[in-house]
Amino acid sequence: PAPGWAIDADVVVVGSGVAGLTTALRCAAAGLDTVVVTKARLDDGSTRWAQGGIAAALGEGDTPEQHLADTLVAGAGLCDEEAVRTLVTEGPDAVRRLITTGAHFDTTDSGDIALTREGGHHRRRIAHAGGDATGAEISRALVEAVRAAALRIIENALVLDLLTDAEGRTAGVSLHVMGEGQHDGVGAVRAPSVVLATGGMGQVFSATTNPSVSTGDGVALALRAGAEVSDLEFVQFHPTVLFLGADSEGQQPLVSEAVRGEGAHLVDASGTRFMVGQHELAELAPRDIVAKAITRQMHEHGTEHMYLDARHFGARMWEQRFPTILAACRAHGIDPVTEPIPVAPAAHYASGGIRTDLRGRTTVPGLYACGEVACTGVHGANRLASNSLLEGLVFAERIAADIAETRPPRREPAEAPGAADAPVPLLAPEARTAIQRTMTRGAGVLRSAASLAAAAEELEALHRSAAADADDPDPKVAVPGVDTWEATNLLLVSRVLVAAAREREETRGCHWREDRPDRDDAHWRRHLVVRIAADRT
Ligand code: SIN
Repeated sequence: PAPGWAIDADVVVVGSGVAGLTTALRCAAAGLDTVVVTKARLDDGSTRWAQGGIAAALGEGDTPEQHLADTLVAGAGLCDEEAVRTLVTEGPDAVRRLITTGAHFDTTDSGDIALTREGGHHRRRIAHAGGDATGAEISRALVEAVRAAALRIIENALVLDLLTDAEGRTAGVSLHVMGEGQHDGVGAVRAPSVVLATGGMGQVFSATTNPSVSTGDGVALALRAGAEVSDLEFVQFHPTVLFLGADSEGQQPLVSEAVRGEGAHLVDASGTRFMVGQHELAELAPRDIVAKAITRQMHEHGTEHMYLDARHFGARMWEQRFPTILAACRAHGIDPVTEPIPVAPAAHYASGGIRTDLRGRTTVPGLYACGEVACTGVHGANRLASNSLLEGLVFAERIAADIAETRPPRREPAEAPGAADAPVPLLAPEARTAIQRTMTRGAGVLRSAASLAAAAEELEALHRSAAADADDPDPKVAVPGVDTWEATNLLLVSRVLVAAAREREETRGCHWREDRPDRDDAHWRRHLVVRIAADRT
């Protein structure tokens, strides 16, 4: 059916984290008529949950070259060096512009930006705000700036699909808007440039640091639009997530790497440090190494978690430096001032995503991707801690510059798909939990050919049931809403992720195959690129 409403713009930015809002601000500043659409509210999404901070060579004696070297080591042979060089050289100025935009970072007594350390960094390089509330401050500053710039904003808007013109070039997006207002129901924003900044897909797994909105919507849309997606097998598991019980599902409280950066120790139940001797950086090894070490300890001890011991910080330091984490721990009955914190790895970040070039362009003309949803090549097989906010900033500016330079003309969509002619069978919302459990069992921190095959089978069964329902004259999923689309998107990205993880028969970065424990540079120093409805390499 034709959409109920349509508006026109030069650019539509989908998503409102650091990547989306920075792109929108810079596009608007370049005189482009810009619309921001976001699935929930403007300040929902992963950015505001970021704790540790934003990495950039801002400190005395630090250089982009050193930041580059640490990023390449963490990326385990799969980073695109030119993309990393772009990130680390443009990063410091991008952070300064963020400060000009209104973000306040913590400073030292002498007024310099205070810097901490995190896993994989050989230097203090991480700028932070509010102690451990960096993302919240960045989000606050960007939301205020966007509101002040009087951009058009559509909240509670689920993006359904990309609209293209007769030549297959981007012509806008179709949306399902929930709530009361001018733009309710299915409609379209027609624009020749679409920037996907929809964040990650942590909700593919049962336990994750990601908020409930992180359901892989951007990657799913890009796959349906025929864009290339790469490196989905590289899911990063954050080593230290507050352990709330084996049955705890959904978003879990993060205990920032910065806690280890300031000297916390990882210990087993008897209080013995187990990272010492395993890596020259001990607790501050890259996070794939720490997550693996914790998982191994859990297996060896037959326990469900290890401990992070930072009692030696004392109450004052905990209160001043890590107030968010302290409050989260206490809310769950744990006092880090007097007891070690139980921690276990949980899904945290998608190192892969929609493949882009250095200007954020995907393989579909006019479609851009920025932030966690993108695969720019900076993360390789394992993202270096605190490089993600930086990636969002740097590449947002590059995308805005590209759109401002090319200024493509507005285009007429060849068709305007609405909710009823979804290009894939829609899945009932109840399937979300089944997908998450399947993925955690079969494609979690530890994977094997057998576990992945079992996951693939379970996911195909869900896909078949959705297809059968779509063919039913009286389908269960008759009126798709947000829950339906989220479950459908989760299934699509899970299927592609599992297929990639099965194909990569080696262990590299955050892809850990028990049955293929070694890194195999001879065969696998390459990317797995997927494009649906066409060939697969
Ligand atoms: C953290 O604070 O540990 C998260 C940093 C990151 O994911 O980059």
